[in-house]
Parts: sequence; structure tokens; C-alpha cells
Amino acid sequence: MIGVDISQILGFVPQDRIDAFEPRVRDAIEQLEKGTGPGSDFTGWLDLASKTGRALLDEIKGVAKILRDNCDTVVVAGIGGSYLGSRAVIEAFQNSFSQLSDKGGNPVILFAGQNISEDYLFELGELLKTRRFGVINISKSGTTTETAIAFRVLKKQCEQQRGVEMARKVIVTVTDAEKGVARATATKEGYRTFVIPDNVGGRYSVLTPVGLLPIAVAGYDIDKLVEGAAAMESLTSSNVPFSKNPSAVYASARNALYQSGKKIEILVNFCPKLHFFSEWWKQLFGESEGKDGKGIYPSSVDFSTDLHSMGQWIQQGERIIFETVISVENVRHSYLVPFDDENLDGLNFMAGKHVDQVNKMAELGTRIAHVDGGVPNIRISVPELNEYWLGQLIYFFEKACGISGYLLGVNPFNQPGVEEYKKNMFALLGKPGYETESEAILSRIGK
Ligand code: PA5
Repeated sequence: MIGVDISQILGFVPQDRIDAFEPRVRDAIEQLEKGTGPGSDFTGWLDLASKTGRALLDEIKGVAKILRDNCDTVVVAGIGGSYLGSRAVIEAFQNSFSQLSDKGGNPVILFAGQNISEDYLFELGELLKTRRFGVINISKSGTTTETAIAFRVLKKQCEQQRGVEMARKVIVTVTDAEKGVARATATKEGYRTFVIPDNVGGRYSVLTPVGLLPIAVAGYDIDKLVEGAAAMESLTSSNVPFSKNPSAVYASARNALYQSGKKIEILVNFCPKLHFFSEWWKQLFGESEGKDGKGIYPSSVDFSTDLHSMGQWIQQGERIIFETVISVENVRHSYLVPFDDENLDGLNFMAGKHVDQVNKMAELGTRIAHVDGGVPNIRISVPELNEYWLGQLIYFFEKACGISGYLLGVNPFNQPGVEEYKKNMFALLGKPGYETESEAILSRIGK
């Protein structure tokens, strides 16, 4: 099962300070489950996994098959919560060299609408000229600028290249049930659509069609992903004692560390396939907790790669950090360090060992060094990277985030701060309706 080991934070915060969170954690879980806490309109993710019916999973798989049968490439257009979850899961499973390797009949999954880079869109368009591509347009609001620009471009190219009839078949929209231009376009063009439930916010939506459709198109088992999440739902529910509830323990440990001055949490992996999982995690915790002048700053590193860049800072920089390591216990392939007669590189002492054994010693050695250097360490163990365990891990963090936000005293389900840049951008671009803001911002920058 997913394990949470907090033994290596106890030299920094005593166990009783963590245990003292128990009554507040109980209240937080009760508020989540009863829908009485802040942001309760957006707690639909809590029992999403256990409530996801066979009919929806089959429908998603059916549409995924249409895309898989008709496309060698599928572009997922989305940003933030409408993109990071599917990318996290797909990149955790796919071959590290997937762009160049045999995909065993699976389409290449590309992402767009997660930036406003002209070069990115141009290069994507060029690449797609020789591809039989489809598009999954994902936006809950249906109005997000980054996604809308990318979709406008992709829709036109898809229609021109593949014909309007085929485009109608290979363009799918995932959006709100009624609102937004993505819904309006889908209705007008007759695209297949999936609904993002009203009560599930972007960063908690990976187990809705937002994440499940791209993951199924990529060829991964969404039944197992949902099954894993549903299992974790039971393991973290209100009838599980505090010390046995992994999300409760993790949420309490990180809040105890925060109160003791550890303001930055670094999510660490020793497996590069988890790079985008960390990106998903950063959004989950960053958007949920960073408000009202509060919140642990979530950051991430890929070890051992970043031990050769950020390792110095972590070992000896300002002591305001703690690490949470995702430790994957079993790798999928076997590869041994070879013996060499000449041993010029001096590596024969590890000849015959699995590369992962070396990696695990790097992990253990790093953990000891960082704890010695004043960095508390939480270890989250995952048996292996497959759909079931990743489903568990996703739900584990979502539940921990909900609990942690309530312990911190914020609404973990809103994100009022992200509107600020949009307001300025629209004012600078002269969007209709932003005339007053336009005048104000232009005079501010002397234009
Ligand atoms: O978590 C969130 O709510 C955000 O990150 C959104 O997912 C992101 O801004 C994209 O929004 P939308 O799906 O409405 O295009």
C-alpha cells in the first residue's frame, strides 16, 4: 500500500505536536464529507472515484477508441487543472523516449494551450502537417485564453487537413454542461462532448473525463486508475483512525513543519517519469493553499539529476525547507551495471547490481545527508508505477490537500488570485468590456 513515513521529521517537530492536530483533522474530514466547510460547492471530487459508473468509463473508452482508430497523434488542448493531471499520468507510464519509440499502436499524445508561445504553436502546426491528428479541447470555463487560441488554430488545421467530416469525428470537447464558448462551438459543430461536473474544480479533475479521456486515448487502464482512487477514498474516510489515515498524517506533518518555520515543501522523486506528477502536485497544493498571505510554497526536484544543481542549496541553504520524497519501490525493467575487465572507471564494485539498487542507495544517502543538514524528510512509498497505485496516490494527495487547507484556515477550493493577470492582460490587449481597466493600466505604464 501507499506508506507515509514521518519518522525523519521527528527531530524537528515532536510527535505530540503532530498528534495534536487529530481533533482538527477529524473536524476537517467531517466538514469535507458533510459539505459544511469553505468551498463546499467544489468537493465533488471526494467520492468521484467510487461513484464513477461503468457507463461513463465505457463511454470514455468508446470515444478514446474512435480517436485511437483514426489518429496517429492526439493534441490535448488545456491548461492548469485541464492539462496537468492527464500529462502527469501519461508521462508516468509512457516510454521515456516515447516520441521516438514504437508506441505499440498507441497514438502520440501532444499538449497545447498550456502557454501562449508563438514558436510553440508554429512548430506544433508544422509537425502536425504530416500527422493524422485529432484534438481534445478541455476547458471547464470554456473561455481560457491560452486554450482558446490553441484550439482555434488546431480546429482550423484539422478541418483543412482532414476534412470537416473527419474533424467532427476526431475533435472532442470536455467542458461545462452548459456555459462557455467551448460548449457553444461543440454544439454548433456537432462534436462529441464530456461534461466536467460543476462541483469539481480544475486541479481536482483528473479523475473526470478531463484526465480520463486523454489517459484512455494514450492506451492506459482508466478502470484501474479509478479503482485505485476509490480504494484510497476508503482508506482516508472519517471512520479510519487518525494514525492509520495516510492523508491525515501527511496533512498534519506538513502543517506542523509549516508552523515550525518550514515554509517550502520540496516534492522529490528519484524517477524522472514522475516529473509531471510533481507539476500536478504543485498546482494542487499551490492553488489550494497559497492565499490570505499564507501557505507552504510547493516546489519540486527530480533526483538524482537535480542533486547536481539544487542539491547544494538543499543541503546548506536557508533552513526553511522540508522534503517529501515519493519513493517507487519496484521498477518495471531489469538492468544491471555490467562488469568490465579493465575497470578503468572503478565501477566494478557495483557490477552485477541493478541500476535501481544504486538509485535506492542514492535515495537513502540523500535522505540521511539532508536530514543531517537540517531538512526534515517525509517519505511516501509507492509499490510501483501502475494505474492502480497512481490512482491511490492521486486521491491520497487530493484528500491531504483538502484536509491541509482546512487546517491552515483557507478555502482550498477557490483560486481568486489567478484572475489578476488575466484582467491586466485583457486590459492591455483592449478586450471589449475592459475599457476602464485599459485606460488605467496604459496610463500606469506611460502609454
Ligand atoms: O484549477 C483550476 O481551476 C485552474 O488551474 C484551471 O484548471 C485552469 O485555469 C484552466 O481553466 P479552464 O478549465 O476553465 O480552462
